[in-house]
This record gives sequence, structure tokens and C-alpha cells, in this order.
Amino acid sequence: MKSSTVEDAITSRKSVRAFNQESVSKEVITKLLNISARAPSGTNTQPWKAYVLEGNALVDLCTKVCAAYDSIAANPELEKEYQAGYDYYPTKWFSPYIDRRRENGWSLYGLLGITKGDKDKMHAQHRKNFEAFGAPICIFFTIDKELGRGSMLDYGMFLQSFMVAARGEGLDTCPQAAWNHYSKIILPFIGAKENEMLVCGMALGHADETDIVNTFHTPRVAAEEFTTWLK
Ligand SMILES: Cc1cc2nc3c(=O)[nH]c(=O)nc-3n(C[C@H](O)[C@H](O)[C@H](O)COP(=O)(O)O)c2cc1C
Repeated sequence: MKSSTVEDAITSRKSVRAFNQESVSKEVITKLLNISARAPSGTNTQPWKAYVLEGNALVDLCTKVCAAYDSIAANPELEKEYQAGYDYYPTKWFSPYIDRRRENGWSLYGLLGITKGDKDKMHAQHRKNFEAFGAPICIFFTIDKELGRGSMLDYGMFLQSFMVAARGEGLDTCPQAAWNHYSKIILPFIGAKENEMLVCGMALGHADETDIVNTFHTPRVAAEEFTTWLK
């Protein structure tokens, strides 16, 4: 259902991890990208660059990345060959972030009946990232490596605008940093230049409402807990 208020578009957005095959037109995707490009950026630098993949291009890339992902499961030594262009997460986790991360992971796995130690099922679930969760469209976003950290802040605003605008069209998304480890496959595949770094992928389409994974609802810390008021 299309969101008709800003509040509903923001609060109805969630990470969808199963899509149906209904496609999204080039016109609608272009409209969403143009809306997102209204995001603010420091001195209007507009650091975003998008590559929209669908059809055979998406199938081919998914096949290549799934093969790489499977090869790591078979030989964990290979993992170091696949490095993301930037650190999304800290190298050393700490509270309360590690607790939230664990809760998130185990709640999702719990919903899917995946228990601790069930490596094959975990592998299979994480692998769905590299099939864009069955979405007909996956967009890869890149940034110039030479830009500063602030540009990543700008990028986040752009990406959130995209996801919220997608709700206005009745569409669903899943931002995906999981792809970042496979930049060395993805960047040449999409024709990115030497100076480009992969920021993330994003699955786009219509949620498969019959899939239990899409009933996953994530909690948030209330404003009272993260806000300090000073007078
Ligand atoms: C930049 C970014 C990258 C993410 N990467 C992934 C990913 O690779 N795979 C995935 O399943 N979810 C990914 N997520 C989704 C988060 O897990 C999700 O946003 C969080 O758990 C909150 O849930 P919600 O999006 O449903 O509100 C990503 C989110 C963001 C913002």
C-alpha cells in the first residue's frame, strides 16, 4: 500500500528480505532517484552514484557473488580476499551496540527457526543477500574514494530518502552492506571507475507478504533514553 503521509512512509519502511517478482518501471526508479537527490549534502557536493541492475545483469552478478560466498564456506581462508572498501562496523564491538546487534540477529534467526550452531541454515539465509532477496531490482551505490567522511553522512540521507520515497510508491527495500565484501567482483561488473567505492546495495521491489521473514519487526530505543534536554 502506498504511504500518503511522511510519517507513514518513514514508519512503514522496514528491511524486506523476501520479494515477489513484480517489477518496477524505469520511470518509477528514476523518479525515486530524482526525489532522493533532493537530499542535502555538504556544500551541495551530491556524492551519490547509482547502478540499477535487473534481469540478466542481476542474475549474472548474483551467480558470481553467490559462487564467491560459497567458496568461502568451503575454504574460510578465502575470506581475506574479499574486503569491503570501508569499515561499516567497529573492529572491536562493545555495549550497548553489540547487545542490540545480537538481539537483532538472533530474533531474525529465531523467527526463521535457525538455532545457534546451525551453520548451513545461517549460510543459506545470509546467502539470500546475494540473490537480492529475490527482488527484481538491485541498485548498487558508489562514492568517490577521495571524498571525506562527511560525504558518507550525505549518502545516508540520500539512501533514507530513497527508501522513504519508495514507500510513497508502495515499494519496499532492503539496504545491503553485505555486498560490500564482494566489491572486487561487483565494481568491474557494473563498470565503476577506479576511484569508486561501493557504499552498499539495495534490493527494491514488492514485499512477498506470504514470507514469514517479512513479519520481522525491529524495536527502537525510545527518545527519552537517547535524548538529553538542557535549559
Ligand atoms: C547501510 C545499511 C546496510 C544494511 N545491510 C544489510 C544487509 O546486508 N543485509 C540485511 O539483511 N540487512 C541489512 N541492513 C538492514 C538492517 O539490519 C536493518 O535496517 C535494521 O535491523 C533495522 O531494521 P529495519 O530496517 O527493518 O527497521 C542494513 C541496513 C543499513 C542501514
